[in-house]
Amino acid sequence: MKLLKNLFDNNKKWAEKIKEADPDFFAKLSRQQQPEYLWIGCSDSRVPSNQIVDLLPGEIFVHRNIANVVIPTDLNCLSVIQYAVEVLKVKHIIVCGHYGCGGVQAALAKRAFGLIDTWLRHIKDVYRHHQESLDSITDPDEKLNRLCELNVIEQVANVCHTSIVQKAWEAGQELSIHGWIYSIEDGILKDLGVSIAGACDISETYRVNLP
Ligand code: CO
Repeated sequence: MKLLKNLFDNNKKWAEKIKEADPDFFAKLSRQQQPEYLWIGCSDSRVPSNQIVDLLPGEIFVHRNIANVVIPTDLNCLSVIQYAVEVLKVKHIIVCGHYGCGGVQAALAKRAFGLIDTWLRHIKDVYRHHQESLDSITDPDEKLNRLCELNVIEQVANVCHTSIVQKAWEAGQELSIHGWIYSIEDGILKDLGVSIAGACDISETYRVNLP
């Protein structure tokens, strides 16, 4: 018996449905990908990038990790950004968080979870950067959701601070970085209004002088 037969059955039906709508879909896609967007999101199963924005395979390049964190030493995430910017030449990088994020919640808890603590440390750092305003929020859900928003905003900055993105801007490449947040409760995305389209919008400290 085939393991996980239900998933293979689903896959067959899905591929047939796509081919019904466009018989050449997979043939065209197999030749190249030209996505306009790089999505950096949370691994949460309730926040699937393509479905949320109703895009087909080939339209969005994706990197997901716990709590949509962009860390300057994370070779996995940086490699995705580099490939997306330099080879695929995406026009938009979207950092998308979500309200009620379990990773952000865990970072708020004063508990040791093991290996993941090192990852969650980066979210604790976001808290510390905004300590005063976050400490003033008494409602726990409101505090969590505000930290989810602030985490997205910090990660947008982290993407902009990479030399990959700054090099692209310097070369005149069209590239904008956006911060969005998704509500699992109603399926609606919100733009946090922190879009950045050039080096002039980032802090002097992080600017890289390129030859
Ligand atoms: Co999450």
